[in-house]
Amino acid sequence: KIDGLKVACIGAGYVGGPTMAVIAMKCPTVTVTVLDISEERIAAWNDEDLDNLPVYEPGLAAVVAETRGRNLFFSTDVEGAVAAADIVFVSVNTPTKLHGVGKGRAADVKNLEACARTIARVSSSNKIIVEKSTVPIKTAETIRRVLEANKRPGCEFSVLSNPEFLAEGTAVDDLFEPSRVLIGGEDKPAGRTAVAQLAAVYNNWVARERIITTNLWSSELSKLVANAFLAQRISSINSISALCERTGADVSEVARAVGSDHRIGPNFLKASLGFGGSCFQKDILNLVYLAERFGLPEVAAYWEQVIAMNEWQKRRFAEGMVSSMFNSVSGKRIALLGFAFKKDTADVRETAAAYVSKFLLEERAHLRVYDPKVRLPAMLSELDYTCGVTPENCPDLATRFVSCASALEACDGADALAVMTEWDEFASIDFEAAFAAMRKPAFVFDGRNVLDHAKLRAIGFQVYVIGKPTSPSATVM
Ligand code: NAD
Ligand code: UDX
Repeated sequence: KIDGLKVACIGAGYVGGPTMAVIAMKCPTVTVTVLDISEERIAAWNDEDLDNLPVYEPGLAAVVAETRGRNLFFSTDVEGAVAAADIVFVSVNTPTKLHGVGKGRAADVKNLEACARTIARVSSSNKIIVEKSTVPIKTAETIRRVLEANKRPGCEFSVLSNPEFLAEGTAVDDLFEPSRVLIGGEDKPAGRTAVAQLAAVYNNWVARERIITTNLWSSELSKLVANAFLAQRISSINSISALCERTGADVSEVARAVGSDHRIGPNFLKASLGFGGSCFQKDILNLVYLAERFGLPEVAAYWEQVIAMNEWQKRRFAEGMVSSMFNSVSGKRIALLGFAFKKDTADVRETAAAYVSKFLLEERAHLRVYDPKVRLPAMLSELDYTCGVTPENCPDLATRFVSCASALEACDGADALAVMTEWDEFASIDFEAAFAAMRKPAFVFDGRNVLDHAKLRAIGFQVYVIGKPTSPSATVM
């Protein structure tokens, strides 16, 4: 049923690249072409050195090595590949609007609209258009109308919603074994045929019972709701982490005890210095905006609190660092361990580390940052894009925000080290050596609860951990 099928995907980013590589691997008789307007990105996907792929994901290089040039291609020829395709995925970015109506909340779907216009203009055969990007509810209707208004005579399109649930850092495993694949389509004969065609592609490696089919609007909304529920769990446990720090309760113990109830479940209850990533904040803001637009202010206020709690957690962590270090970090060196928004990715979008950096830079600290995968230009660009920190408005940024080649180098001469990202390698740092190289008292701020705190205290560190009392004598405030 799918032999000889031609698939194109517009958008060669964190989702388009890995998702299409896995489809190509699991469906060797399907030809997959991944497209982007960014020549640089496509060149990186075509780079012979697999270390230079634009997305770092464990296992991805092997999938690309097996498929690239066989039935997986990366190209900037959007028009040519779309014209030839039977199925066109649209996996472009849908960032929060930065201007006009819905500024700071609504998702901007202009890239999707542009793709729909291109598809209509260049197509002379029938196609299935798959909305892979995360979008506001009813976007499929926008795409359908743009296609209808611009299509060539005799050309038919079916629009499907097929949101992606992969998480960065585990993208390849998530794609190999998705908890579910969600396909929304129109309840009409053409819509049902299109749903069956896309389901057949996934069914090459995903069991039929894991492929959920719904109407278009349920599918679009489910993606926003899934992210809102996940983020809500983090904000919930983070709110409790503050209570733990004041009372002598330990947030890991509370999470374990609470998560053991099978109705609650153990996952996504790790307290942290705040969630980051390109999705949670954007998608909740999108949900909040939609609720407001549909006249539901109570619903909007409810979900907005998830973001408010996250903002507070990031600020609380940064303020806690300053107050612990005698209310001033001016001129002090602080080693930041990790900058990515989570481990096993080089992605820094919305990382809590950028927020903490901004806060500490305003306090005139000298930051020395080590991340196994993130390089200085990406850090500086995120500091600018999300936090507005630039060489113009931050005095001596080049000397006060320095990237280091190792954790020990970052710790040299530092007053404190702070864990921003839960990279596995941080557990095996030589902390005796770090302590010896640091000024005393030497502070540790564990924003991820990943270090051996008893060992660190035995070495001589002053240790502060999210969700744990600083000393056993902590009392209710
Ligand atoms: P990304 O920014 O990494 O990639 C998007 C790509 O689309 C960019 O390379 C950009 O150049 C390209 N693009 C934009 N407009 C284009 C156009 N008109 N023609 C050709 N190319 C164009 O974004 P991403 O992280 O892959 O996210 C894509 C979508 O998937 C978003 O809607 C996001 O919310 C959603 N999503 C992301 C994740 C994730 O973990 N990153 C997970 C699930 C869903
Ligand atoms: C998320 C969703 O998980 C995924 O399904 C969706 O497709 C895209 O958005 P992602 O943002 O890549 O994926 O990573 P995720 O593992 O969800 O982590 C998001 C943030 O929450 C990270 O900063 C992470 O460190 C943080 N987090 C996660 C916690 O602080 N505690 C947890 O228990 C889990």
